[in-house]
Amino acid sequence: MNLKIAVLAGDGIGPEVILQAKKALNAIGEVFDHEFVYEDALMGAIAIEKTGNPLPEQTLNLCLNTDAVLFGAIGDPKYDNDPEAKVRPEQGLLRLRKELGLFANIRPIKPYKGLLDSSPLKKEIIEGADFTIFRELTGGIYFGEKKTNEAGTVVSDLCEYSEEEISRITHMAFKTAQNRRKKVTLVDKANVLETSRLWRRVVKTISQSYPDVELDFLFVDNAAMQIILNPRQFDVILTENLFGDILSDESSVITGSIGLLASASLGTTNALFEPIHGSYPQATGKNIANPIASILSAAMLLEHFNLHKEAKKVYEAVEKAIEYNVVTIDLKSDSKYGTSDVGDFISNYILDKDDLMYFNNANVHIGQSTIV
Ligand code: IPM
Ligand code: MN
Repeated sequence: MNLKIAVLAGDGIGPEVILQAKKALNAIGEVFDHEFVYEDALMGAIAIEKTGNPLPEQTLNLCLNTDAVLFGAIGDPKYDNDPEAKVRPEQGLLRLRKELGLFANIRPIKPYKGLLDSSPLKKEIIEGADFTIFRELTGGIYFGEKKTNEAGTVVSDLCEYSEEEISRITHMAFKTAQNRRKKVTLVDKANVLETSRLWRRVVKTISQSYPDVELDFLFVDNAAMQIILNPRQFDVILTENLFGDILSDESSVITGSIGLLASASLGTTNALFEPIHGSYPQATGKNIANPIASILSAAMLLEHFNLHKEAKKVYEAVEKAIEYNVVTIDLKSDSKYGTSDVGDFISNYILDKDDLMYFNNANVHIGQSTIV
């Protein structure tokens, strides 16, 4: 298969982790005979610096005309700490989501066996958890009208949803549930919000066309508690934009590090793949950021194009890296491995290279390659 991929490495650790994701994809290309052609483009704070615009038109046009977008991270403390800033890196990401029509953000949560002790949550609680969040991504309070009075002392953000916006992601969530454990939990605040009541109505109606899938409801405050109290109860969580944003960061605690969580943002014609972590400016250039979330986002890209064998190989390589402790310091505080080591291990594993020997911690046997 030939794929043209727009690469928006962005800010902070974005470029470092994206480099490792490209290495993994290239290894897959070599082993499975695919051609991935990348085109880099500016986005985020770096784009503001160079062009004044967090999403330059050239970048947007490229993304509209590629098979997929591989995205790193955006954000810079310079803007976070300046409430007066007129232009922000995040505006670029939001506009990109909107322009590409990426209405569904899919975030799988599943702890690795080798990392059950890395989570601050008890092993008995997180063991066996396996759920996917379907977060609506182009509506709600993120995109509603913003108002400020003249004095700037009273402001508002409108939260608006249409039936159509709810319905398209709901179908996606139910279809995914059919291939999983057949349960959808709608998370909302229907005891207070009109938008949530519309979500309930639309989702209930749609659920009738998926009789094999069980539907239940949770208020978001309760859901926030249930996710860390009993995460095994969830299969597919369906929710609106802001709740999904918050719950997915919370859920990352189950896996031990936000540096492990990948996501796919899908629309009808476009697809973007990104780690859920941010630009982690404190770690920039230090070779300590965890590249696994980016590498797993690349695996989600492969799956999106039905390259399931290939994606499986990436998952297997990541599992091996974790199993043999070739991980960054977020997962093992005394680890001697950096971002590029983890990336090398994973791509070398995919390539079945003998020089996995470099990672000889304990005379281990890794897949077909023997580490001496
Ligand atoms: C995410 C991020 C973004 C969001 C920010 C950077 C705008 O937190 O992808 O979860 O809130 O959607
Ligand atoms: Mn977020």
